[in-house]
Amino acid sequence: MTDLIPRPKVLDPAPGSFEFTPRAAVSGPADLADAVRLALAVLDLGPGDHGDHTDIARAGAAPGGAQTAHQATISVEPDLSLGPESYAVTVDPEAVRIAAGGAAGALYAGQTLRQLLPADAFRSVPLPGARWPVPCGRIEDAPRFSWRGAHLDVSRHFMPKREVLRLIDLLAVHKLNRLHLHLADDQGWRVESRAHPLLHEIGSHRARTTTRHFRGETEYDDTPHGGFYTLADLSEIAAYARARAVTVVPEIDVPGHASAILAAYPHLGADPASRHDVLDRWGISPAILSPLPGTIDFLATVFAEIVEALGPVPYFHIGGDECVLDDWAASAEIEAHRESLGLATPGDLHAWFLRGLADVLAGLGSRAVVWDEAFVSGMLREDTVVMPWRGVEVGRRAAAAGHDIVATSVFPLYFDYAEAASPEEPVAIGDTITVADVAAFEPVPASWTPAEAGRVLGAQFQLWTERIPDGRTLDYRAWPRGCAMAQVTWSGDAEGFAAALPAHLGRLDAYGVEYRPPAGPRPWQRGGTGVRRHRPGAVAVAEVMRHLEELTHAADSTRPSLG
Ligand code: ACM
Repeated sequence: MTDLIPRPKVLDPAPGSFEFTPRAAVSGPADLADAVRLALAVLDLGPGDHGDHTDIARAGAAPGGAQTAHQATISVEPDLSLGPESYAVTVDPEAVRIAAGGAAGALYAGQTLRQLLPADAFRSVPLPGARWPVPCGRIEDAPRFSWRGAHLDVSRHFMPKREVLRLIDLLAVHKLNRLHLHLADDQGWRVESRAHPLLHEIGSHRARTTTRHFRGETEYDDTPHGGFYTLADLSEIAAYARARAVTVVPEIDVPGHASAILAAYPHLGADPASRHDVLDRWGISPAILSPLPGTIDFLATVFAEIVEALGPVPYFHIGGDECVLDDWAASAEIEAHRESLGLATPGDLHAWFLRGLADVLAGLGSRAVVWDEAFVSGMLREDTVVMPWRGVEVGRRAAAAGHDIVATSVFPLYFDYAEAASPEEPVAIGDTITVADVAAFEPVPASWTPAEAGRVLGAQFQLWTERIPDGRTLDYRAWPRGCAMAQVTWSGDAEGFAAALPAHLGRLDAYGVEYRPPAGPRPWQRGGTGVRRHRPGAVAVAEVMRHLEELTHAADSTRPSLG
C-alpha cells in the first residue's frame, strides 16, 4: 500500500486482502460509478444491484440471469463534505467502499485502486489466469494544488490525436488534471479553422525541418512535416479529457511566434508586404502580428471556433512571450495607432493587444493565460493567469500584483532538457533536469507572503518538442519526471517518492510506456552518432536561468530571451 504515486494524504493499512472476482460490479450514482469503471477498465466491472442499470443486455446474457450476474463489490457514494477531487477508499475482505466528492474524486479513487492491484492492471486486458487482490486498509486523499498540469507543444512537432489521447490517459493515471496544448507557433498551426481555412491549409505544414542544434551547423532533413486537428478532433479530445478529469487548455501564441499564421494571412503582419513561410528552424523569429483592431477581430473569430469545439474552456492561453517589436516601431500605421491610444512604447502596445484578446475571451467564458512577458509589460486584466517560465522571482511579482500563477519555470519544469549530461543521452536542448530535481521542486517558495502563496494555483511540466519528434521520444522525456510532478502537485512533497518509484515503473512497463530508466537510456533509446546524438554543453540550465532572471528585470521586458 505504500508504493502509490502520488502518495495519498492518509494511508492506514489493515491486515488481509480483498479479491475482485470475475463479473465484479460497481454500484452507486451513474456519474461516480462510470468514473470508477473507467479507471478500472481492465476489470470490466459491471453495474451493481442499485444505481445504474445500463448494462442489462450483458447482465441478462450471463449465466444465471440479471439477478445474479453481478455482485456489488465496489460501492461508491457521494460525500459532499469532500472537495470535487477528493475521495476516501475503504478496502475490507468483503467489499470496497468509496466516498467521493465528485466524478473526479471517484475517478481518482479508481486510479488508486488500480495502483493497489498487481501491475498487470495497467495492461489493456487481463492476462489469462489474472488475479486481482487488493490489500485491506483505508485511504483518504485530496490534492494540494488545483492545477496539476502538462504542457505539450504540438507545433514544433505535430503529435497525432492518438498520442494526445494516450497522454490524457497517462495524466489521469497520475491524477494530473490539465493538458495545455500549444497549438500555434512559428513552425506550425495545428487547428482547423472554418472561418479562415488557410490557417490549416497552409499553416499546418513545412517542407523541411532543421537538424541544427543551437550554435551548430545549419542543415535540414528535407522531409515535409505537418498535421492539424479538425474541430471535431478537438471536440473528441476535450470530451475524452473531461471523462478523465483533465481540462484542456488551448494555446494560440501571439503576437510573436506568428510565422505560420503569416504564411497563411500575410496581411495580418506588422509589415503586410512581407511574405513568410512556416518556419523550418528553431529559435526566435521576428515575425509578429500587427496589433491593429483587425487582427483582434480575426483572432476573436478563431478563438470562438476553438471554444465552441472544446466545449466550456475555463482557461485559454494567448502566449505573449518572446516578441520582437522592431516591426511595430518601424510601421507608421502601428505607431499612429499606438499614439492614438496614448501609449508610450511598443511594450505598452503589446500589453494593450493582449488585454484586448483577454477581453474577447472573457466574452467567451474563458480566463486568459499568458507567459510572464505579458505580465511584465503590464495592463493585464486582473483575472489573467500568469505562467512565470523565466523563474520564481517574476512569478512572485505577478502574484504580488494579484494574478493567479502556475509555476512553469525552465528549471526544473522544462522536460525538453536532458536528464543527464551523458553522451548516451539523445539530443536535448540542454542539461540537466533529473527526476530528483523535479521531486524536490517546491511551487511555493518559503519566503513568499501568505497572500503571494495563495496565488499559486499549482505547477505544470513543459514538453517543448523541437527535439521530441514522436510519441516514443515523448514517453522518454515525460516519464518518470512526470510522476515526480504528480507527487509534487498532488501530495505536496517528495516523501516516499523515490522508494515508490521502482514499483510504479513496473506499472508503466505493463502500460507500455517507454520511459527513461533511472540508470540511463536503453540501447535503442541512446542518441547514437547521427542527427539525434547528444550535444553536451549547448545550454546548461543554470546558465539559462541566470540569463532569464536578468531579462525579467530589464527595462525592455519584451526583449526576447532563449527559448
Ligand atoms: C517560452 O519558453 N518561450 C514560454
